[in-house]
Amino acid sequence: MTATTAAQAADIVAALLFIFSLAGLSRHNTSRAGVAYGIGGMALALVTTVVAAAQDISGTAVTLIVVATVVGAAVGLWRARRVEMTQMPELIAVLHSLVGLAAVLVGWNSYYEVEAHDGGRGRIADELLGIHHAEVFIGIFIGAVTFTGSIVAYLKLSARIKSRPLTLPGKNALNLGALVAFVALTVWFTASPGLGLMIAVTALALALGWHLVVSIGGGDMPVVVSMLNSYSGWAAAAAGFLLNNNLLIVTGALVGSSGAYLSYIMCKAMNRSFLSVIAGGFGVEAPTGGDTEYGEHRETTAQETAELLENATSVIITPGYGMAVAQAQHPVAELTQALRRRGVQVRFGVHPVAGRLPGHMNVLLAEARVPYDIVLEMDEINDDFGDTGVVLVIGANDTVNPAAEEDPASPIAGMPVLRVWEAENVVVFKRSMSSGYAGVQNPLFFRENSRMLFGDAKASVEAILRSLSPLDAGSAASQGGEAAMQSTSV
Ligand code: TAP
Repeated sequence: MTATTAAQAADIVAALLFIFSLAGLSRHNTSRAGVAYGIGGMALALVTTVVAAAQDISGTAVTLIVVATVVGAAVGLWRARRVEMTQMPELIAVLHSLVGLAAVLVGWNSYYEVEAHDGGRGRIADELLGIHHAEVFIGIFIGAVTFTGSIVAYLKLSARIKSRPLTLPGKNALNLGALVAFVALTVWFTASPGLGLMIAVTALALALGWHLVVSIGGGDMPVVVSMLNSYSGWAAAAAGFLLNNNLLIVTGALVGSSGAYLSYIMCKAMNRSFLSVIAGGFGVEAPTGGDTEYGEHRETTAQETAELLENATSVIITPGYGMAVAQAQHPVAELTQALRRRGVQVRFGVHPVAGRLPGHMNVLLAEARVPYDIVLEMDEINDDFGDTGVVLVIGANDTVNPAAEEDPASPIAGMPVLRVWEAENVVVFKRSMSSGYAGVQNPLFFRENSRMLFGDAKASVEAILRSLSPLDAGSAASQGGEAAMQSTSV
């Protein structure tokens, strides 16, 4: 077997490992294996690429590549170990921006290797020149859109800039104009490549990426993150064409198509038009309102909430981003167990975009060993709120906002939400009256049946646990089956 065929075989194995990785990541119980496949595939891909490159480049260049790989891996490991779960989307946005930047640099490098020398004549076969010109241009365009789009996403997710959408006059015409200009520039560059056009397409794409994401409201950010994930995949695939690296093309296409599919699923879950979101909020009007009078909110205490819970027969907990911030999942699991021991039916209602990551709440609840069978998706539980005694809204806000259903002028209008307000009693755990991620006030807090339990969610749940009356031996024995809490947990 020659070095080339060995490298090709390794590429196929790595591509298969990436496919297994995606398959593994699609289910809770196989996700660890999915991560392991991904790591294995990437390690193999790196080794193969460096070994293959070593045939054609100097020893110094190989050393530089190895040093860069070790430094990159060390930085990646350090960041991954330090990052809080709540900061994961920000980290992902930064990583997407790096993929975009890499695609831009590969495009420029390719330009200087080929097109910069007499339009590329003599550098590659004449019949492939046009294709190469187009690859350079498209790669730079997708990469630059991904780069600035991801940076804006990072700034919004980390609250360094406001999550409210920027609505420039004629924003849809601007986006459309940028796309038309890109097509025209590509035709021009393919016919007659030049430095001026390279600068023009880079600047145009950087501006478009910024505008697409800055125009999207906070509530739609989950779709933006998965959409940028998809763009980063296509940017990597474009770089793969320029570098003649089949594995990069396959990997980029896998990331691009799975990210696009995830965006589509999220758009469906949030009742958003896929095209509208990828076109930077196309057709979405500027939010109105903001001066509505909601009236007075009412407060409650941990003691009162404990009594309410002990007297309930059915409780639903709807966790949100605040539960992740407070790291309240462990006391929440303890409370669940304590109530189930007292014969109370406890279930969880999880909104598809609760928290800041797809599956964020499911991961936290699994970590706290809450049984899967009492953790229900929004569609599975939304009809049950009307028959529920108490709902505990633990650090959720946008995902339980009735304005989404009742106020057509609301920026989150049309987004499906957990209809917690239909329950007999709602207790909202948060620290203040401030709005959620989308920056929209929540009329739920002012409803007759709602009570605010102010404070850090973890401290509040722990206070409720302390306030529960001791469990007498009889009622504990009658709930003998409750031992299932541990045995069915993950
Ligand atoms: P949010 O609307 O983000 O609200 C979280 C609430 O938690 C806030 O109102 C905050 O109020 C409260 N909170 C924060 N820290 C707390 C603590 N230590 N203790 C108690 N409460 C605390 O939450 P959500 O309902 O989960 O909605 C998620 C939002 O994020 C949606 O708009 C969604 O579109 C967006 N988003 C989601 C994702 C994904 S993929 N899930 C990605 C990006 C964006 P106080 O400050 O008053 O405490």
